[in-house]
Amino acid sequence: MDSVWSVFFVASIFLFFLCAIFLYKKTSGHKTGSSQYRRSPLPLGTLGWPFLGETLDFIACAYTDQPESFMEKRRRMYGKVFKSHIFGSATIVSTDAEVSRSVLQSDATTFVPSYPKSLTELMGKSSILLINGSLQRRIHGLIGAFFKSSSLKAQITHDMHKYVQESMAVWKENHPIYIQDEAKKIAFQVLVKALISLDPGQEMEFLMKQFQEFIAGLMSVPIKIPGSRLYRSLQAKKKMVKLVHKVIQEKRDSSSIHSTLPKDVVDVLLNDTSELLTDELISDNMIDLMIPGEDSVPVLMALTVKYLSDCPAALHQLTEENMKLKKLKDRLGEPLCWSDYLSLPFTQNVITETLRMGNIINGVIRKAMKDVKIKGYFIPKGWCVFAYFRSVHLDDNQYDSPHQFNPWRWHEKDMSTCSFTPFGGGQRLCPGLDLARLEVSIFIHHFVTQFRWEAEDDSIVNFPTVRMKQRMPVWVKRRTDP
Ligand code: HEM
Repeated sequence: MDSVWSVFFVASIFLFFLCAIFLYKKTSGHKTGSSQYRRSPLPLGTLGWPFLGETLDFIACAYTDQPESFMEKRRRMYGKVFKSHIFGSATIVSTDAEVSRSVLQSDATTFVPSYPKSLTELMGKSSILLINGSLQRRIHGLIGAFFKSSSLKAQITHDMHKYVQESMAVWKENHPIYIQDEAKKIAFQVLVKALISLDPGQEMEFLMKQFQEFIAGLMSVPIKIPGSRLYRSLQAKKKMVKLVHKVIQEKRDSSSIHSTLPKDVVDVLLNDTSELLTDELISDNMIDLMIPGEDSVPVLMALTVKYLSDCPAALHQLTEENMKLKKLKDRLGEPLCWSDYLSLPFTQNVITETLRMGNIINGVIRKAMKDVKIKGYFIPKGWCVFAYFRSVHLDDNQYDSPHQFNPWRWHEKDMSTCSFTPFGGGQRLCPGLDLARLEVSIFIHHFVTQFRWEAEDDSIVNFPTVRMKQRMPVWVKRRTDP
């Protein structure tokens, strides 16, 4: 009897592997159809295990302090561009700055964004991150122009100043201050004000609470049943959309739109004459646009404090620069305006270096809509391309001692090259990049001119999103020098 079971057992395993290999070939094989690249070889590399591909290896590396080690190992074996299979998709990984630039610069007939299922469910079909073609360009253009306007920068400067002062006024000297948490509160309020003109208060508290629930589901298991993480996040989004709908309705009723300069992003989108910008689309996008306020911008603030704490020479030079400006403005009796903050060269270099080393967005994923050949590398239709910025930012051919925080390198280095892309590039270049820099400059200015601090040990977590593990605790002392 035992031998019958053994045969049955071995036969089942054999059958399982046969099915797995069949299905894997079906999903990972590329059909080039009538493409001119039919005979082109794929980049070198391996697709790993059936179904899983190389995902486990990728995740294991992502949880370490050197997430790029997954890429580095393969880059040494196969070159800067290689094939893999991660997160359920056959993928060409690019650690080559020029290949990544070509991918970013292509339009939606060649590449479209690709995100995990939980994220697309939560964003909704009309999110700017997911739409393509003329509608994406239109919304990108409208919000990009508004974010660049000096009126908005002046408003952001005013709001940042107010919220930073309110927050820092209650910091206690004998308690740890969690920079990442403080930064989140400030950056979220500032962004929500710029999006829908909501001031701090009960509705803001409600929005913040729902937003925490919403964002927790962005990288969750894509199961949408009552009680699941994704379901709870979707419920939270519904409540937020209702609040934004109310704001839109009030604006429509007040008939002030069309007649005055836009006060916020909702005004900008409502002012547009295109029929395509429906209230649903606008409110969905307002929620998605809040993500950098809760995530990327505060993390950039916390990382800047982290790198400065670890580099006393940079902290000294940055403090001197900011003190000098403060004293000058105090003497003149003038408040600092947005251009003052952005004109501090060393402070800007510190932020640039933090963006390079921090890699808040490690890279972006696109899906090929047709067979493509870039720099001799063949990318079949239906495959994903992972443009991995982090490897380029930490490449010793591009940057001397790339793992060293060295803001002085930017004295002579050009930022506008394809080897520096913390904000992406091409048609989807981050429209909020100026705002992000401005907010961080203001936060850092007030921090260094009002406090000295000792940072507790903390480390950077890189997966699923970049953040400080302990939320960047510091012990502050108010400055007594004038
Ligand atoms: C440190 C801060 C930030 C970083 C590192 C960052 C990074 C990026 C990157 C890499 C992309 C390109 C995504 C892609 O190509 O698929 C992007 C797109 C975008 N970012 Fe940012 N961002 C930041 C702050 C902001 C802020 C403050 C806003 C303002 C709300 C913003 C709004 C957007 C939008 C709307 C897009 C999508 C553009 C499109 O697809 O047309 N970001 N960001």
